[in-house]
Amino acid sequence: MNNDQIEKLSFKERFKSMKLSLKWIFKASPKITTIIFILSIIGGILVIVTPYIYKILIDYLTTLDITTTTTISFTIITILIVYVLTVWLRNYISELALLLRTTANFRIEKYVSSKLMKKISSLDLEHFEDSEFYNSLYKANQSLPQITSIYRHFIHILRYIVTIITILASLLIFDWRISLLVIIGSIPILFVSLKYANVNYSLFYGNSPVKREAKYYLELINSNKRAVKEIKLFSLRDTFLSKWNTLFKDIIKKQDSAVRKQTIRYFLAGLINVIFIFFSIILSINLYIRGEITIGSIVFLLALIFQFSNSLTMFFEIFGNLNKSASYIYSFVNVFNYKSKINNNSTKKIPKILSKGITFKNVFFRYPKSDEFVLKNINVTIKPGENIAIVGENGSGKTTFIKLLSRLYDVSDGEILIDNTNIKDYSLLEVHKNIGIIFQDFVQYEASVKENIKFGNVNRNNKYIHESAVSSGAYDFIKHFDKKYNAYLGKVISKDGKELSGGQWQKVALARAFFKDSQILILDEPTASIDAKAEYDLFKRFKNLTKGKTTILISHRFSTVRMADRIIVMDKGKIVEEGSHKQLMSKKGVYHKLFSLQAKGYNLK
Ligand SMILES: Nc1ncnc2c1ncn2[C@@H]1O[C@H](COP(=O)(O)OP(=O)(O)OP(=O)(O)O)[C@@H](O)[C@H]1O
Ligand SMILES: [Mg+2]
Repeated sequence: MNNDQIEKLSFKERFKSMKLSLKWIFKASPKITTIIFILSIIGGILVIVTPYIYKILIDYLTTLDITTTTTISFTIITILIVYVLTVWLRNYISELALLLRTTANFRIEKYVSSKLMKKISSLDLEHFEDSEFYNSLYKANQSLPQITSIYRHFIHILRYIVTIITILASLLIFDWRISLLVIIGSIPILFVSLKYANVNYSLFYGNSPVKREAKYYLELINSNKRAVKEIKLFSLRDTFLSKWNTLFKDIIKKQDSAVRKQTIRYFLAGLINVIFIFFSIILSINLYIRGEITIGSIVFLLALIFQFSNSLTMFFEIFGNLNKSASYIYSFVNVFNYKSKINNNSTKKIPKILSKGITFKNVFFRYPKSDEFVLKNINVTIKPGENIAIVGENGSGKTTFIKLLSRLYDVSDGEILIDNTNIKDYSLLEVHKNIGIIFQDFVQYEASVKENIKFGNVNRNNKYIHESAVSSGAYDFIKHFDKKYNAYLGKVISKDGKELSGGQWQKVALARAFFKDSQILILDEPTASIDAKAEYDLFKRFKNLTKGKTTILISHRFSTVRMADRIIVMDKGKIVEEGSHKQLMSKKGVYHKLFSLQAKGYNLK
């Protein structure tokens, strides 16, 4: 999508964001927020009380005859007490509101973050493999702190609205022309403030892909453990630094020019404002000269005029900020607009023990936003308890096949049946429960060994953890850890966490899959870092361990693949051959060719 198209938000979109934010704020901390809002209203009214007390005091003093008065009267004492109390109350209210807001902020941040996390985790894999969604998600994550800013803005804006209305009402009592002058004088400030919200926001929004790119380089150099080795050995540091510099130079240039323009605008708007204030003061003094108001009233009026103009300026400024925050918040609206496409209304359970197995019937698949079919007319049945291996060149569609089988995606055409029932007719949770799967890019959880294994099925009894670790071969190194299963893996959360080798991590991941104990077990090349001999041993054991279970193994190693009951050979999205190792070898087709090629290097027979 073109950046220019998404830069500016319509009034309606901003309004929607504000409404959504208000709703969240009230839901996250209803009581505290109500109290804060009431305090804001009181604070807003109190602003005019002080100048009004001045007026009363001055008017009273001017009526006194100083030649005869010798003591401070009871009236003066009363006025002063009221004055001091108002000042105290006003200060206390703002302190109290600040304190309450701190506690509310935490609640709101937690509420919105958890809402976002819940939403994101409900989305399909498809969304995460889509860069447009990633862009929205990035913006939403970046905008998270804005939710507390928008809260602050709401509170302030409410206070200024109350102040402005109170002042306006008081001014109108004196002379409507004064109100008119101060209102007109403030209009330029309104426009300038609104303009600023747009400028600032479009920098953030319009440049988001640029900023993402900049962030990527920064992370690559600063914090990416995996990249360090390559960056050092290929001497890439300067290349990435200069890419990063160029990007930032561009952002800074744009920002500078926006700020420069804004300085001039503020200068002019402020000038127009004081000219109007000037005339409104002339008008007030004129009222006094004509004897229409007292000297106390003129002090009151002057205070109101300045207060009004201040409050209005502040109001516009906060309104601008509110607008800006609302625009940031709109990135949440964007994320919340994404809907999961994989429907999940069924509660149907998968039979505890499959009797017919899994069938792919004329299955075609292409990734969303792509025209090319990556799976073409796949027809295959995997019987219960069968041991299947899938081989094929990179990009032939093996992982995609598994993604469909585990319903991370829905087929484009054709159907997948589990025990003669369409996979879509089962509860999605059931499908995921019955399939244990370890992908090529499995996760290395920053957690203890125990948890890393237990994450396979958090509801299963811990006593099977050891058994799973032994089966996967992970116990061979776990037994050397001082803390055994309580040893912490990874160094992000725990300082003294253990660093594992690629192959060791894979064994932990395999233990996790075994621990899940599901009737269908799929391993998508999680053994690539395990040496050939260890892989061979592992799968020999695996075959014994998984007797009665349906297993699918994807591997590029024919020493392992040949052990399978049946081998499916894929090429460019199609199944080109299938059968046992023996059958395929005697067929002298693709499998035979690939096998012989590898055998030459490995001396396999
Ligand atoms: N998320 C995606 N969006 C679009 N195309 C994709 C996506 N994932 C994979 N592809 C494409 O689908 C095809 C099949 O990919 P797949 O990952 O299934 O291959 P594979 O057989 O598992 O390969 P490898 O042996 O390298 O793991 C490839 O051409 C790939 O470019
Ligand atoms: Mg793959």
